Amino acid sequence: MIETAVAQDNRTATAPSRSRESSSPTLNLLARFHEVRNFSGKLSENLVPEDCVVQSIPDVSPTKWHLAHTTWFFETFILKKWVAGYRDAVPEYAYLFNSYYNAAGTMHRRDLRGLISRPTVDQTKKYRASVNADIDELVSGADEKLFREIEPILTLGIHHEQQHQELLITDIKHVFAQNPLYPVFREGGMHKSVRLAPASAGTSRSAEFVEFDEATIEIGHEGNGFSYDNEGPRHRALVLPFALANRLVSNGEYLQFMADDAYSRPEFWLSLGWMTVNEQSWRAPLYWIERDGEWWNFTLSGLRRVDPNEPVTHLSYFEADAYAKWAGARLPTEFEWERAAAKIKIDGNFVETEQFHPAALTASPHDGEVAQMYGDVWEWTRSSYSPYPGYRAVPGALGEYNGKFMCNQYVLRGGSCATSRTHIRKTYRNFFQPEKRWQFMGIRLARDLS
Ligand SMILES: [Fe+2]
Repeated sequence: MIETAVAQDNRTATAPSRSRESSSPTLNLLARFHEVRNFSGKLSENLVPEDCVVQSIPDVSPTKWHLAHTTWFFETFILKKWVAGYRDAVPEYAYLFNSYYNAAGTMHRRDLRGLISRPTVDQTKKYRASVNADIDELVSGADEKLFREIEPILTLGIHHEQQHQELLITDIKHVFAQNPLYPVFREGGMHKSVRLAPASAGTSRSAEFVEFDEATIEIGHEGNGFSYDNEGPRHRALVLPFALANRLVSNGEYLQFMADDAYSRPEFWLSLGWMTVNEQSWRAPLYWIERDGEWWNFTLSGLRRVDPNEPVTHLSYFEADAYAKWAGARLPTEFEWERAAAKIKIDGNFVETEQFHPAALTASPHDGEVAQMYGDVWEWTRSSYSPYPGYRAVPGALGEYNGKFMCNQYVLRGGSCATSRTHIRKTYRNFFQPEKRWQFMGIRLARDLS
C-alpha cells in the first residue's frame, strides 16, 4: 500500500492548468482553495513528525490525521464524483481518513487514530499535493455548468478545512500539555499580547450589562454567501427583554469563583455537572496548574502565570453555567447572542493575529457597547443544539455534516483565537457536549430583565 502511495504521490502541486480559458470565478475559487490549503501547511510547519502522530484523548486527532482527512474530503466528495475513471491516490485512505460519514463507507475507529504510523507525515503531504493538483486540473478545466455543480462542494470543503485548522491547533495544544517539557507551538505571540496589554484597563471595572428590549427578530443566515445548513432556515424568534455583559468573564473573576470554593459547592452545579466535577476532580480550568500556591496556565507559547485580565477559557458548559449561577446571572441564549451581535463588525482576536490565546481587553467598552463578541473564546450559550424550524439535512453523505449531531450538545457563538476571521459569521453555530473543555471556550453572562 505504501509503495503505491509513494509512486502516485510523486506528483506535486502545480499551477492550475489552462486547458480552457479560466473565468475569474474559477481563478478566485482556486486561489481561495490554495490559500486555505496552504494555511494548514503553515500551521503545521514547525511541528516535527513525532508531534504529528500523537492522540492524547479520543476527542483529539493527530495533526497528520487532520491533514489527511481534509484531503480525503476533497477527494471523496469532488474528485471521485466528477473525475471520470478517477483512481484513488491510495484506496485504503478512504477507510483511514473518513471521519463519520456512514454513507461514504466504513471507517477506522476514531479513538485509534494515534496508532497509525503509516502513511508517514511526508506521505500525507504528498497525498495533499496530489489531490490539490487533481482539483486544479478538474476545476480549471470545468465548463460553466460543471463549475456551478462543483463550486458549492469545493466551498464547503474549504470551510471544512478551516474547521479542522482550528481543531489542529486545539488538538496539538492538548497533546503538548501532556508533555512535562511543555513544548512551545508558536513563540512570540504571547509576548506580543503581554506588551499590548500591560495594564488591566479593560477589566479594572466590573462588567456592565447592556439592556435589550423585547423583540421579534429574524434568526439564521440570509443572503447568497456561504453558510452551513444548521444556520437555517431563517425564521422569526421572540426574544424577551434581557441584559448582556459588555465583556467576557476574566481569569481574575474566575479566580474569585474558585476562591469561594465553588468547585466544592453543589448548589451552583447542574446534577450532571456536579457528577462530572467529582469524577474528573476538576478544580480549575483545563491547562491550569498550581505551583507553590500560584496558578500557571499552559498556552501554545508555553507555561506562564495566569493573567487575571485575560478572558478565562477551556471551561466546560457545566463550569460556565455554575459560574453564571455563582455570579447571580445566567448564560445567554443563542438568539440573545445573535441579537446583540446584529450590528457588530466581525473583528477581533482570530487565528490571523497568531497569538493562539485569548487577549486581555486594553480598554473598557464604551457605554452601551458589548466587546469581545468575536474571536478570543467561543461563548457557551444555554441553547441546546437543535434544528431550526423547517430544517432538513441534505440527502446523501454531506447531510451527515451537521444534522446528526443535534442531540446532547450546546451551541457556542462568536469564534475563538484559533478560528479564521473568514470562517465565522453572526449566525455561525458551533456545538459541543457539555463536558468538553479542550476548545477555546469561555463565558459571557446574561440576565433576565423583568
Ligand atoms: Fe471533518
